[in-house]
Amino acid sequence: MRSPAPALELELLPPAQHITTGLHKISLAIRSQAWQRAGQRGLTPTQAQILVVLRTREAQGAKTTVSEAAEALAVTTATASDAVATLMAKHLVAKQRDAEDARAVLLRLTSKGRRAARRAALWSDFLLAATQTLSPEEQAVFLRALVKMIRHMQEQGQIPVSRMCVTCRFFRPHVHADPERPHHCDFVDAPFGDRHLRLECPDHQAASPSAASHKPPAAKPRLLHPLSSLRRRTIMSQTAAPGHIPGYTYGTDVVHKSPITLQELELLKQTVLFTDEDVKYLRLSGEVLKDQVEQVLDVWYGFVGSHPHLLHYFTRKTDGQPDAEYLAAVRKRFGQWILDTAAAQYDQKWLDYQYEIGLRHHRSAKNQTDGVDSVENIHYRYLPTLIYPITYTLKPFLGKKGHAADEVEKMHQAWIKSVILQVTLWSQPYVKDGDF
Ligand code: HEM
Repeated sequence: MRSPAPALELELLPPAQHITTGLHKISLAIRSQAWQRAGQRGLTPTQAQILVVLRTREAQGAKTTVSEAAEALAVTTATASDAVATLMAKHLVAKQRDAEDARAVLLRLTSKGRRAARRAALWSDFLLAATQTLSPEEQAVFLRALVKMIRHMQEQGQIPVSRMCVTCRFFRPHVHADPERPHHCDFVDAPFGDRHLRLECPDHQAASPSAASHKPPAAKPRLLHPLSSLRRRTIMSQTAAPGHIPGYTYGTDVVHKSPITLQELELLKQTVLFTDEDVKYLRLSGEVLKDQVEQVLDVWYGFVGSHPHLLHYFTRKTDGQPDAEYLAAVRKRFGQWILDTAAAQYDQKWLDYQYEIGLRHHRSAKNQTDGVDSVENIHYRYLPTLIYPITYTLKPFLGKKGHAADEVEKMHQAWIKSVILQVTLWSQPYVKDGDF
């Protein structure tokens, strides 16, 4: 069968799909530029945006409170307050009482802040330049469409979620006895509760191996749900060793034997067109990805975190809130999985651990590894569908080490095949006996 011509292939995809891809690309550019530009001045994007908002409103003769700044940025008041506190510490912003309303506290730029705001206002010039390549008619149509989309997203209450506490090096879960405020943020050096867990924190810094030297002191004894505490101790005592990832049991004899044979695995590999060349490019991808694991995980966790229907599977049954410890524990094994996927030997141990991962997604073993009291089962329909975002978002990382486009493409194809192969193996517990 001949593959369709490229033009036809494009027609086969609905335009909404192309638009979504385009928006995604733009959002990546905005994000990286925002961090890059603000970072050059020692600010987070939220802090830089607050300076810009204050500058714009001052020019309009408008007063600004913290909650007005939060509204202008579409962030929570708590997020804006934190950013303002940092800006005050940097002597860029000051607070003063409103002469007309003694209860209101207004924000104003200091002269140093005004200079910083002028520079910060330029960060989005690259976007303006791109927008100006559109004709006036195109701009009008684009604007209408944007307004419509933004309104819809506002109505749905959808906000970008990526820089979450649970992926941050300042976050120490369950270190305080107070059930209302069991967690600690080392950035602001204060205890806080689950309802204050950030999904988008301006001061987020990814927890990464390279940040290990900045890691907070060892946690005090953890206070968990009595049941999870008990189960966790059992599991961790089996697996925790220096440098070891809790719950990661690859190659050990606690892993169940895969119900399918190595011969059947071979047929699956043939079916997905997986060859020795793919093995070679997966190995190369391991070299490329090994120091980018945390950044890849930030993107993947950002994706899951920004979709409540996916985040749901990491929530506690008791209160429906995301279980930060669970997310953090799985993240470590997820990072190892990236390296394992690149280095896979496709032997019995590998095959058995595939079965194990499937069981851990399914009600057969979900939650048991980390001793958590979370949702019992991940619905099967999300396993194959997650393959696309996982593999699509990996590609830019494969291209980051200067390999030629065709090598990047071969690494990417190898990853797509490998993830399809693995998720197929993970599906086994979901399939009726004899039907797999
Ligand atoms: C392409 C699809 C997917 C990939 C590549 C993937 C990858 C992984 C990996 C590597 C682990 C850790 C395995 C270990 O314990 O060593 C894991 C666990 C987990 N994944 Fe997935 N996953 C996928 C789909 C999903 C979906 C759709 C959800 C739903 C949000 C999900 C939620 C979870 C949860 C909750 C765990 C922890 C399970 C437990 O042990 O309790 N995963 N996943």
